Amino acid sequence: MKLIANLLLAAMLSISLSACAEGHSTAENTQSESIITTAENMLSEVSETVGTSNSSQNAETDGNIGVFDLDKGTVMLNSGYEMPILGIGTYRLSQEQAENSVYWALRDGYRLIDTARIYGNEEGVGKGIRRAIEDGFVTREEIFVTTKMWTSDYDDGEAAIDASLKRLGLDYIDLMILHHSQPENDVEAYQAMEAAVNDGKLRSIGLSNYYEPEDFDRLVNATEIAPALLQNETHPYHQSGIMKEHLAKYSTVMESWFPLGGRGNTQRLFEDETISSIAEVHEKTSAQIILRWHLQAGNIAIPGSSNEAHIQENYEIFDFGLTESEMEQMTALERDERFASY
Ligand SMILES: NC(=O)c1ccc[n+]([C@@H]2O[C@H](COP(=O)([O-])OP(=O)(O)OC[C@H]3O[C@@H](n4cnc5c(N)ncnc54)[C@H](OP(=O)(O)O)[C@@H]3O)[C@@H](O)[C@H]2O)c1
Repeated sequence: MKLIANLLLAAMLSISLSACAEGHSTAENTQSESIITTAENMLSEVSETVGTSNSSQNAETDGNIGVFDLDKGTVMLNSGYEMPILGIGTYRLSQEQAENSVYWALRDGYRLIDTARIYGNEEGVGKGIRRAIEDGFVTREEIFVTTKMWTSDYDDGEAAIDASLKRLGLDYIDLMILHHSQPENDVEAYQAMEAAVNDGKLRSIGLSNYYEPEDFDRLVNATEIAPALLQNETHPYHQSGIMKEHLAKYSTVMESWFPLGGRGNTQRLFEDETISSIAEVHEKTSAQIILRWHLQAGNIAIPGSSNEAHIQENYEIFDFGLTESEMEQMTALERDERFASY
């Protein structure tokens, strides 16, 4: 039931967003706002009536939720918000590098940004966003900002959320995720994020670095809102098949970190014979083939880069597609090999 109400809300949100995007009149937009309010009220009524058990959700009833739209470059989350499926990652970028990368990315068409408190660059990310808005490339509403709560902040999640909002210079965050599984206190941290959803500080919430279905369920069974996504190390040599199958039960989507293998490992993937020969056929680079594979395989990808040309190149993957046979060849590269040890 809760999922049906979520679906209804998502559909109504989508109708109203397209009305706004097509430049409908203020009266129509006001009408759209009241549709959203009605849907939100219905959602909370249904949640109150049937309870909010996450385990009652079933992927068979969730329609568009979790389905990747490769033309629009978005996916509808189980939270009812639409999320871009290709974004810019900022791990290991300085404040200044993050500012520039975010600015170039937004200028080039990206609408998704990934940062984290522990990267120490949330202020730089915020500056890049403001520069792009000032230069007229985007509006705040058009972009989707993700940050992560670090493990040492789990005991006071509310303070951590407020601090991230302040450093980013935003009045809401599109998606906040717990950076790592930490059974001692991750439930409390997640509950702080749930409270922040109710307060309008966060729109969607999710998890990162949960590698066992049982560990994911431990958190989910103790909380109310099903995670919108799980961000785990995922690339052609570690395709996360078992977790993705598990996530489908909750209509939770997978987001890939180290989508290109991560700093220091990318050449192994770029020079892989299968990947480089597919790249040759399409006259694309290996990076572009890997990123396109992620999207067609149903993984949101957030390649990290501080290089202006790479950022542009990584976004040029919506003008071609991999064939079924090429997707099969990519799937066959699975070797359950992680590049990171955490
Ligand atoms: N949740 C977590 O625990 C976690 C962990 C790690 C990462 N993340 C997130 O996931 C994002 C992606 O991971 P990542 O940045 O570590 O690894 P990645 O995206 O797999 O790889 C980044 C590396 O690829 C290079 N690169 C990017 N585009 C390229 C291109 N077109 N051609 C050649 N080289 C290219 C970058 O160098 P240049 O700078 O020279 O382009 C950099 O060395 C991070 O930035 C971060 O936002 C999350």
